[in-house]
Amino acid sequence: MSVAERRNLVGELANLTENELGALATGGLTPELANRLVENVIGIHGLPIGIAANFMVNGRDYLIPMAIEEPSVVAAASHIAKLVRDTGGFTASTDAPMMIGQVQVLVRDVESAREKILAAHDEILALANAKSTLVEFGGGVRDFEVRVFHESRVGAMVVVHLFVDVRDAMGANSVNTSCEAIAPLLEQLTGGHVVLRILSNLADRRLARASCRVSKNDLGDELVTRIVEAQTLAEIDPYRAATHNKGIMNGIDAVVVATANDWRGVEAGAHAYAARDGQYRALSQWDCAANGDLIGSIELPIPSGIIGGTVNAHPSAKIALKILGVKTAPEFAGVLASVGLAQNLGALRALAGEGIQRGHMELHARQIAIAAGATGEQIERIAEQMTREKDVRITRAKELLEIRD
Ligand code: MEV
Repeated sequence: MSVAERRNLVGELANLTENELGALATGGLTPELANRLVENVIGIHGLPIGIAANFMVNGRDYLIPMAIEEPSVVAAASHIAKLVRDTGGFTASTDAPMMIGQVQVLVRDVESAREKILAAHDEILALANAKSTLVEFGGGVRDFEVRVFHESRVGAMVVVHLFVDVRDAMGANSVNTSCEAIAPLLEQLTGGHVVLRILSNLADRRLARASCRVSKNDLGDELVTRIVEAQTLAEIDPYRAATHNKGIMNGIDAVVVATANDWRGVEAGAHAYAARDGQYRALSQWDCAANGDLIGSIELPIPSGIIGGTVNAHPSAKIALKILGVKTAPEFAGVLASVGLAQNLGALRALAGEGIQRGHMELHARQIAIAAGATGEQIERIAEQMTREKDVRITRAKELLEIRD
Protein backbone atom coordinates (compact mmCIF):
# COMPACT_ATOMS: atom_id res chain seq x y z
CA MET A 1 0.00 0.00 0.00
CA SER A 2 1.07 3.58 -0.54
CA VAL A 3 1.33 5.88 2.47
CA ALA A 4 -1.99 7.52 1.54
CA GLU A 5 -3.75 4.15 1.12
CA ARG A 6 -2.56 3.00 4.52
CA ARG A 7 -3.60 6.26 6.11
CA ASN A 8 -7.05 6.03 4.57
CA LEU A 9 -7.48 2.44 5.75
CA VAL A 10 -6.49 3.37 9.31
CA GLY A 11 -8.79 6.38 8.96
CA GLU A 12 -11.71 4.08 8.15
CA LEU A 13 -10.92 1.69 10.99
CA ALA A 14 -10.49 4.49 13.53
CA ASN A 15 -13.24 6.78 12.18
CA LEU A 16 -10.86 9.63 11.49
CA THR A 17 -12.26 12.83 9.96
CA GLU A 18 -10.86 14.48 6.82
CA ASN A 19 -9.17 17.06 9.03
CA GLU A 20 -7.55 14.37 11.14
CA LEU A 21 -6.31 12.54 8.06
CA GLY A 22 -4.84 15.80 6.81
CA ALA A 23 -3.18 16.48 10.15
CA LEU A 24 -1.65 12.99 10.15
CA ALA A 25 -0.13 13.62 6.74
CA THR A 26 1.57 16.83 7.79
CA GLY A 27 2.36 16.13 11.45
CA GLY A 28 -0.46 18.29 12.78
CA LEU A 29 1.56 20.80 14.73
CA THR A 30 1.60 24.37 13.34
CA PRO A 31 4.41 26.79 14.16
CA GLU A 32 1.88 28.89 16.12
CA LEU A 33 0.91 25.94 18.30
CA ALA A 34 4.53 24.82 18.65
CA ASN A 35 5.33 28.31 19.90
CA ARG A 36 2.82 27.83 22.73
CA LEU A 37 4.31 24.50 23.80
CA VAL A 38 7.96 25.47 24.34
CA GLU A 39 10.20 28.52 24.24
CA ASN A 40 12.29 30.13 21.50
CA VAL A 41 10.59 28.06 18.78
CA ILE A 42 12.12 28.20 15.30
CA GLY A 43 10.41 25.21 13.68
CA ILE A 44 8.99 21.72 14.02
CA HIS A 45 10.78 18.39 14.24
CA GLY A 46 9.21 15.58 12.22
CA LEU A 47 9.19 11.81 12.83
CA PRO A 48 7.52 9.05 10.83
CA ILE A 49 4.37 7.55 12.38
CA GLY A 50 3.96 3.86 11.53
CA ILE A 51 1.20 1.50 12.60
CA ALA A 52 2.10 -1.77 14.31
CA ALA A 53 -0.60 -4.23 13.35
CA ASN A 54 -1.90 -7.53 14.76
CA PHE A 55 -1.93 -6.51 18.41
CA MET A 56 -4.48 -8.21 20.61
CA VAL A 57 -4.39 -7.36 24.32
CA ASN A 58 -6.85 -8.88 26.81
CA GLY A 59 -8.97 -10.06 23.87
CA ARG A 60 -9.18 -6.61 22.22
CA ASP A 61 -7.65 -5.58 18.90
CA TYR A 62 -5.47 -2.50 18.75
CA LEU A 63 -3.74 -0.55 16.00
CA ILE A 64 -0.55 0.82 17.54
CA PRO A 65 0.72 4.23 16.35
CA MET A 66 4.50 4.47 16.71
CA ALA A 67 6.56 7.61 16.16
CA ILE A 68 10.16 6.57 15.63
CA GLU A 69 13.10 7.15 13.33
CA GLU A 70 14.64 3.66 13.67
CA PRO A 71 14.07 1.10 10.88
CA SER A 72 12.64 -2.35 11.70
CA VAL A 73 10.93 -1.43 14.98
CA VAL A 74 7.39 -1.20 13.58
CA ALA A 75 7.84 -4.31 11.44
CA ALA A 76 9.27 -6.37 14.31
CA ALA A 77 6.46 -5.38 16.70
CA SER A 78 3.82 -6.27 14.09
CA HIS A 79 5.47 -9.59 13.35
CA ILE A 80 5.71 -10.73 16.96
CA ALA A 81 2.17 -9.49 17.68
CA LYS A 82 0.99 -11.81 14.90
CA LEU A 83 2.72 -14.83 16.45
CA VAL A 84 1.29 -13.94 19.87
CA ARG A 85 -2.15 -13.42 18.39
CA ASP A 86 -2.11 -17.04 17.21
CA THR A 87 -1.87 -18.18 20.85
CA GLY A 88 -4.58 -15.80 22.13
CA GLY A 89 -2.82 -12.44 22.33
CA PHE A 90 -1.22 -10.58 25.21
CA THR A 91 -2.59 -10.62 28.75
CA ALA A 92 -2.05 -7.32 30.56
CA SER A 93 -2.79 -5.98 34.04
CA THR A 94 -2.03 -2.72 35.78
CA ASP A 95 -1.97 -1.14 39.21
CA ALA A 96 -4.21 1.82 40.00
CA PRO A 97 -2.66 4.93 38.38
CA MET A 98 -0.86 5.97 41.57
CA MET A 99 2.00 8.46 41.34
CA ILE A 100 4.37 9.39 44.14
CA GLY A 101 5.11 12.99 45.10
CA GLN A 102 8.09 13.83 47.30
CA VAL A 103 8.43 16.63 49.83
CA GLN A 104 11.90 16.84 51.36
CA VAL A 105 12.05 18.37 54.85
CA LEU A 106 15.40 18.98 56.54
CA VAL A 107 14.91 18.62 60.30
CA ARG A 108 16.95 18.28 63.51
CA ASP A 109 15.04 15.39 65.06
CA VAL A 110 13.69 12.97 62.45
CA GLU A 111 11.69 10.80 64.86
CA SER A 112 9.80 13.70 66.39
CA ALA A 113 9.22 15.22 62.90
CA ARG A 114 7.85 11.91 61.68
CA GLU A 115 5.46 11.60 64.63
CA LYS A 116 4.16 15.16 64.22
CA ILE A 117 3.57 14.67 60.51
CA LEU A 118 1.74 11.37 61.05
CA ALA A 119 -0.39 12.93 63.78
CA ALA A 120 -1.56 15.58 61.27
CA HIS A 121 -2.59 12.93 58.75
CA ASP A 122 -6.09 14.21 57.93
CA GLU A 123 -5.10 17.87 57.81
CA ILE A 124 -2.22 17.10 55.43
CA LEU A 125 -4.45 15.04 53.12
CA ALA A 126 -7.14 17.73 53.07
CA LEU A 127 -4.58 20.40 52.20
CA ALA A 128 -2.95 18.22 49.54
CA ASN A 129 -6.35 17.70 47.89
CA ALA A 130 -7.64 21.25 48.33
CA LYS A 131 -6.20 22.55 45.05
CA SER A 132 -5.98 19.23 43.22
CA THR A 133 -7.71 19.16 39.84
CA LEU A 134 -7.90 15.38 40.13
CA VAL A 135 -10.55 15.29 42.85
CA GLU A 136 -13.41 16.19 40.50
CA PHE A 137 -12.40 13.22 38.31
CA GLY A 138 -12.48 10.79 41.24
CA GLY A 139 -8.73 10.92 41.84
CA GLY A 140 -6.58 12.82 44.32
CA VAL A 141 -4.16 12.21 47.14
CA ARG A 142 -5.11 8.91 48.81
CA ASP A 143 -2.50 8.64 51.54
CA PHE A 144 1.09 9.39 52.45
CA GLU A 145 4.09 7.87 54.18
CA VAL A 146 7.08 9.43 55.91
CA ARG A 147 10.54 8.20 55.02
CA VAL A 148 13.42 8.95 57.31
CA PHE A 149 17.08 9.65 56.54
CA HIS A 150 19.00 9.91 59.81
CA GLU A 151 22.09 11.37 58.27
CA SER A 152 23.40 12.80 55.03
CA ARG A 153 26.07 15.35 54.19
CA VAL A 154 23.54 18.13 54.79
CA GLY A 155 22.11 16.62 57.96
CA ALA A 156 18.98 14.60 58.79
CA MET A 157 15.78 14.76 56.75
CA VAL A 158 12.34 13.25 56.39
CA VAL A 159 10.66 12.80 53.02
CA VAL A 160 6.90 12.76 52.78
CA HIS A 161 5.65 10.57 49.94
CA LEU A 162 2.19 11.53 48.74
CA PHE A 163 0.34 8.73 46.96
CA VAL A 164 -1.72 10.41 44.26
CA ASP A 165 -4.34 8.65 42.19
CA VAL A 166 -4.01 10.53 38.91
CA ARG A 167 -6.83 8.67 37.10
CA ASP A 168 -6.29 9.03 33.32
CA ALA A 169 -3.63 11.72 33.40
CA MET A 170 0.14 11.38 33.53
CA GLY A 171 -0.38 13.51 36.60
CA ALA A 172 2.85 15.46 36.98
CA ASN A 173 1.22 18.89 37.40
CA SER A 174 -1.33 17.77 39.96
CA VAL A 175 1.23 15.82 41.97
CA ASN A 176 3.56 18.82 42.05
CA THR A 177 0.71 21.14 43.04
CA SER A 178 -0.20 18.90 45.99
CA CYS A 179 3.45 18.65 47.07
CA GLU A 180 3.77 22.44 47.05
CA ALA A 181 0.46 22.85 48.88
CA ILE A 182 1.53 20.87 51.96
CA ALA A 183 5.07 22.23 52.23
CA PRO A 184 4.31 25.22 54.53
CA LEU A 185 2.31 23.00 56.90
CA LEU A 186 5.16 20.47 57.06
CA GLU A 187 7.59 23.27 57.96
CA GLN A 188 5.21 24.56 60.62
CA LEU A 189 4.70 21.09 62.12
CA THR A 190 8.37 20.10 62.21
CA GLY A 191 10.22 23.41 62.53
CA GLY A 192 12.35 22.18 59.61
CA HIS A 193 12.73 23.56 56.11
CA VAL A 194 11.41 22.17 52.86
CA VAL A 195 13.57 21.98 49.76
CA LEU A 196 12.18 19.66 47.06
CA ARG A 197 8.47 19.38 46.20
CA ILE A 198 8.26 17.23 43.09
CA LEU A 199 6.98 13.87 41.80
CA SER A 200 9.19 10.80 41.74
CA ASN A 201 9.78 9.20 38.36
CA LEU A 202 10.28 5.87 40.07
CA ALA A 203 6.53 5.28 39.75
CA ASP A 204 6.62 1.85 41.35
CA ARG A 205 3.01 2.07 42.51
CA ARG A 206 1.90 2.45 38.91
CA LEU A 207 3.18 -0.79 37.42
CA ALA A 208 1.97 -2.42 34.23
CA ARG A 209 2.43 -6.08 33.41
CA ALA A 210 2.04 -8.09 30.24
CA SER A 211 2.60 -11.72 29.33
CA CYS A 212 2.43 -13.79 26.18
CA ARG A 213 3.16 -17.15 24.58
CA VAL A 214 4.66 -17.99 21.19
CA SER A 215 4.21 -21.48 19.82
CA LYS A 216 7.38 -23.55 19.43
CA ASN A 217 6.06 -24.37 15.96
CA ASP A 218 6.60 -20.76 14.96
CA LEU A 219 10.10 -20.53 16.39
CA GLY A 220 11.52 -24.06 16.47
CA ASP A 221 13.04 -25.76 19.52
CA GLU A 222 16.50 -24.46 18.84
CA LEU A 223 15.48 -20.80 18.61
CA VAL A 224 13.44 -21.08 21.83
CA THR A 225 16.56 -22.39 23.59
CA ARG A 226 18.78 -19.67 22.11
CA ILE A 227 16.31 -16.95 23.16
CA VAL A 228 16.29 -18.24 26.76
CA GLU A 229 20.09 -18.29 26.70
CA ALA A 230 20.18 -14.72 25.39
CA GLN A 231 17.63 -13.65 28.02
CA THR A 232 19.79 -15.13 30.77
CA LEU A 233 22.68 -12.78 30.03
CA ALA A 234 20.34 -9.81 30.56
CA GLU A 235 19.46 -11.24 33.97
CA ILE A 236 23.06 -11.46 35.17
CA ASP A 237 24.90 -8.71 33.29
CA PRO A 238 24.02 -4.99 33.39
CA TYR A 239 25.93 -4.39 30.14
CA ARG A 240 23.51 -6.66 28.32
CA ALA A 241 20.49 -5.66 30.42
CA ALA A 242 20.88 -2.03 29.29
CA THR A 243 20.66 -3.05 25.62
CA HIS A 244 17.90 -5.58 26.27
CA ASN A 245 15.83 -2.89 28.00
CA LYS A 246 16.65 -0.39 25.25
CA GLY A 247 14.98 -2.80 22.84
CA ILE A 248 11.89 -2.88 25.08
CA MET A 249 11.83 0.92 25.20
CA ASN A 250 12.12 1.12 21.38
CA GLY A 251 8.52 -0.04 21.33
CA ILE A 252 7.18 1.73 24.40
CA ASP A 253 8.82 5.08 23.64
CA ALA A 254 7.54 5.09 20.07
CA VAL A 255 3.93 4.94 21.29
CA VAL A 256 4.62 7.33 24.17
CA VAL A 257 6.10 9.84 21.68
CA ALA A 258 3.22 9.36 19.20
CA THR A 259 0.79 10.27 21.98
CA ALA A 260 2.93 13.25 23.15
CA ASN A 261 3.46 11.74 26.57
CA ASP A 262 6.64 12.46 28.54
CA TRP A 263 8.95 9.74 27.27
CA ARG A 264 11.82 10.88 29.51
CA GLY A 265 9.61 10.18 32.53
CA VAL A 266 8.75 6.70 31.27
CA GLU A 267 12.42 6.03 30.51
CA ALA A 268 13.58 7.26 33.93
CA GLY A 269 10.99 5.09 35.69
CA ALA A 270 11.79 2.01 33.64
CA HIS A 271 15.54 2.12 34.23
CA ALA A 272 15.24 3.00 37.93
CA TYR A 273 12.83 0.07 38.32
CA ALA A 274 15.25 -2.21 36.47
CA ALA A 275 17.83 -1.42 39.16
CA ARG A 276 15.47 -1.73 42.13
CA ASP A 277 17.32 -4.59 43.84
CA GLY A 278 20.71 -2.90 43.53
CA GLN A 279 21.72 -4.52 40.25
CA TYR A 280 20.42 -3.29 36.92
CA ARG A 281 18.51 -6.17 35.27
CA ALA A 282 16.19 -7.09 32.41
CA LEU A 283 12.64 -5.77 32.72
CA SER A 284 11.30 -8.86 30.96
CA GLN A 285 11.54 -12.60 31.44
CA TRP A 286 11.54 -15.35 28.78
CA ASP A 287 11.27 -19.07 29.52
CA CYS A 288 10.56 -22.34 27.80
CA ALA A 289 7.13 -23.72 28.85
CA ALA A 290 6.61 -27.41 29.63
CA ASN A 291 5.30 -28.00 26.10
CA GLY A 292 8.28 -26.24 24.51
CA ASP A 293 6.52 -22.92 23.70
CA LEU A 294 8.25 -19.66 24.54
CA ILE A 295 6.55 -17.72 27.33
CA GLY A 296 7.38 -14.15 28.26
CA SER A 297 6.41 -11.49 30.76
CA ILE A 298 7.29 -7.92 31.61
CA GLU A 299 6.69 -5.54 34.51
CA LEU A 300 7.58 -1.85 34.64
CA PRO A 301 6.20 1.52 35.76
CA ILE A 302 4.23 3.31 33.02
CA PRO A 303 3.48 6.89 34.04
CA SER A 304 1.57 7.89 30.89
CA GLY A 305 -1.85 9.41 30.42
CA ILE A 306 -4.59 9.88 27.89
CA ILE A 307 -5.74 13.31 29.10
CA GLY A 308 -4.09 16.51 30.22
CA GLY A 309 -0.93 18.40 29.30
CA THR A 310 0.48 18.07 25.82
CA VAL A 311 -1.56 14.92 25.18
CA ASN A 312 -4.62 17.07 24.46
CA ALA A 313 -2.77 20.05 23.01
CA HIS A 314 -0.89 18.25 20.24
CA PRO A 315 -3.14 17.52 17.24
CA SER A 316 -1.45 14.31 16.08
CA ALA A 317 -1.22 13.00 19.67
CA LYS A 318 -5.01 13.22 19.91
CA ILE A 319 -5.28 11.36 16.61
CA ALA A 320 -2.80 8.71 17.77
CA LEU A 321 -4.94 8.14 20.86
CA LYS A 322 -8.05 7.91 18.70
CA ILE A 323 -6.36 5.26 16.53
CA LEU A 324 -5.25 3.39 19.63
CA GLY A 325 -8.76 3.57 21.06
CA VAL A 326 -7.78 3.14 24.72
CA LYS A 327 -10.38 4.41 27.20
CA THR A 328 -8.30 4.71 30.40
CA ALA A 329 -4.68 5.29 31.40
CA PRO A 330 -4.39 1.77 32.93
CA GLU A 331 -5.66 0.24 29.66
CA PHE A 332 -3.06 2.36 27.83
CA ALA A 333 -0.32 1.16 30.20
CA GLY A 334 -1.26 -2.50 29.58
CA VAL A 335 -1.02 -1.96 25.82
CA LEU A 336 2.34 -0.20 26.22
CA ALA A 337 3.71 -3.08 28.31
CA SER A 338 2.55 -5.51 25.60
CA VAL A 339 4.24 -3.47 22.87
CA GLY A 340 7.46 -3.45 24.92
CA LEU A 341 7.33 -7.21 25.35
CA ALA A 342 6.70 -7.74 21.63
CA GLN A 343 9.56 -5.42 20.70
CA ASN A 344 11.88 -7.24 23.06
CA LEU A 345 11.08 -10.60 21.51
CA GLY A 346 11.45 -9.13 18.02
CA ALA A 347 15.02 -8.16 18.90
CA LEU A 348 15.85 -11.41 20.73
CA ARG A 349 14.47 -13.51 17.89
CA ALA A 350 16.68 -11.75 15.36
CA LEU A 351 19.73 -11.71 17.65
CA ALA A 352 19.43 -15.36 18.67
CA GLY A 353 18.79 -16.37 15.06
CA GLU A 354 20.20 -14.79 11.94
CA GLY A 355 21.55 -11.68 13.72
CA ILE A 356 20.13 -8.19 13.60
CA GLN A 357 22.00 -6.85 10.59
CA ARG A 358 20.35 -8.79 7.75
CA GLY A 359 16.89 -7.41 8.39
CA HIS A 360 18.29 -3.99 9.11
CA MET A 361 20.41 -3.83 6.00
CA GLU A 362 17.80 -2.93 3.41
CA LEU A 363 16.12 -0.32 5.58
CA HIS A 364 19.49 1.08 6.53
CA ALA A 365 20.41 1.14 2.83
CA ARG A 366 17.40 3.36 2.12
CA GLN A 367 18.56 5.85 4.73
CA ILE A 368 22.06 5.85 3.24
CA ALA A 369 20.60 6.39 -0.24
CA ILE A 370 18.56 9.35 1.02
CA ALA A 371 21.60 10.77 2.80
CA ALA A 372 23.55 10.53 -0.49
CA GLY A 373 20.91 12.67 -2.17
CA ALA A 374 18.62 10.05 -3.78
CA THR A 375 14.99 11.03 -4.25
CA GLY A 376 11.81 9.28 -5.46
CA GLU A 377 12.36 5.93 -7.15
CA GLN A 378 16.15 6.35 -6.92
CA ILE A 379 15.91 5.53 -3.20
CA GLU A 380 14.58 1.97 -3.68
CA ARG A 381 16.78 1.29 -6.70
CA ILE A 382 20.02 2.34 -5.03
CA ALA A 383 19.10 0.70 -1.71
CA GLU A 384 18.34 -2.60 -3.45
CA GLN A 385 21.57 -2.55 -5.40
CA MET A 386 23.70 -1.75 -2.34
CA THR A 387 21.97 -4.55 -0.38
CA ARG A 388 22.56 -6.98 -3.24
CA GLU A 389 26.21 -5.99 -3.39
CA LYS A 390 26.43 -6.09 0.43
CA ASP A 391 28.10 -2.70 0.10
CA VAL A 392 26.00 -0.18 2.00
CA ARG A 393 28.10 2.96 2.11
CA ILE A 394 27.39 6.59 1.37
CA THR A 395 30.27 6.67 -1.14
CA ARG A 396 28.77 3.72 -3.02
CA ALA A 397 25.32 5.35 -2.95
CA LYS A 398 26.82 8.53 -4.47
CA GLU A 399 28.59 6.49 -7.17
CA LEU A 400 25.33 4.74 -8.07
CA LEU A 401 23.54 8.08 -8.23
CA GLU A 402 26.13 9.44 -10.65
CA ILE A 403 26.17 6.33 -12.85
CA ARG A 404 22.46 6.61 -13.60
CA ASP A 405 21.96 10.34 -13.62
C1 MEV B 1 18.36 -1.76 18.78
O1 MEV B 1 17.69 -0.52 18.72
C2 MEV B 1 17.78 -2.61 19.91
C3 MEV B 1 18.50 -3.94 20.16
O2 MEV B 1 19.88 -3.68 20.43
C4 MEV B 1 17.84 -4.56 21.35
C5 MEV B 1 18.54 -5.81 21.88
O3 MEV B 1 19.76 -5.96 21.68
O4 MEV B 1 17.84 -6.61 22.52
C6 MEV B 1 18.47 -4.82 18.96
